[in-house]
Amino acid sequence: MNTREALLTRRSIRRYQSTPIPEEDLREILEAGLYAPSAINLQHWYFVAVQDPAAMEEVRGIMGGVVEKFTPVLEQRFARNPEQIGITNRFLSTLGGAPVCVLVFLLKPDYPDRDGAMQSVSAAIENVLLAAWDKGIGSCWLSAPQRMGFGPVLQARFAPDKGEFVAAITLGYPDQQGKLPPRREGRYTIV
Ligand SMILES: Cc1cc2nc3c(=O)[nH]c(=O)nc-3n(C[C@H](O)[C@H](O)[C@H](O)COP(=O)(O)O)c2cc1C
Repeated sequence: MNTREALLTRRSIRRYQSTPIPEEDLREILEAGLYAPSAINLQHWYFVAVQDPAAMEEVRGIMGGVVEKFTPVLEQRFARNPEQIGITNRFLSTLGGAPVCVLVFLLKPDYPDRDGAMQSVSAAIENVLLAAWDKGIGSCWLSAPQRMGFGPVLQARFAPDKGEFVAAITLGYPDQQGKLPPRREGRYTIV
């Protein structure tokens, strides 16, 4: 797959086959994250790829708490598409059956250029999504656990000395066709 094709065809996947991801592929995907640009090259990221079934069960258990707190947010956001609420909640609590969930951390969260550090971690996340898709592996970027205040629980359990939890990424072979949400018009100018 060439770069442009990967960029244009990657979609958030919320239902996965249970087929495991070969460890070599998983390593290559995480390595691609490490090659992202970063503010003054500080490489402020850390990834914990959870694949052990018992550990995945723990992550799903934590996501159950996220669902409870997230539902009112979804009700407001999807007032006109209520079916989206159930889809998102089911996905969160089951992680769509994904065999892997990557937890992403911001190292040194007290670094003065916090925005730059966060942008760097975001770039690394996007690299992971695209590198996965290049191998036919679907993904979904999740900020809901952080937004709903579950970062400290994930930090304490999975990476107590790796800074602040930022996001989770589900990974697995898709069990659904991703649907392209319509692109909004007028989002760039060339001057
Ligand atoms: C920062 C960020 C946070 C996101 N958080 C969630 C989330 O918590 N749950 C979820 O189901 N999708 C989440 N997504 C996925 C978006 O819903 C998705 O990217 C968007 O609807 C566009 O669809 P596409 O990825 O298929 O292009 C997130 C995406 C980004 C970039």
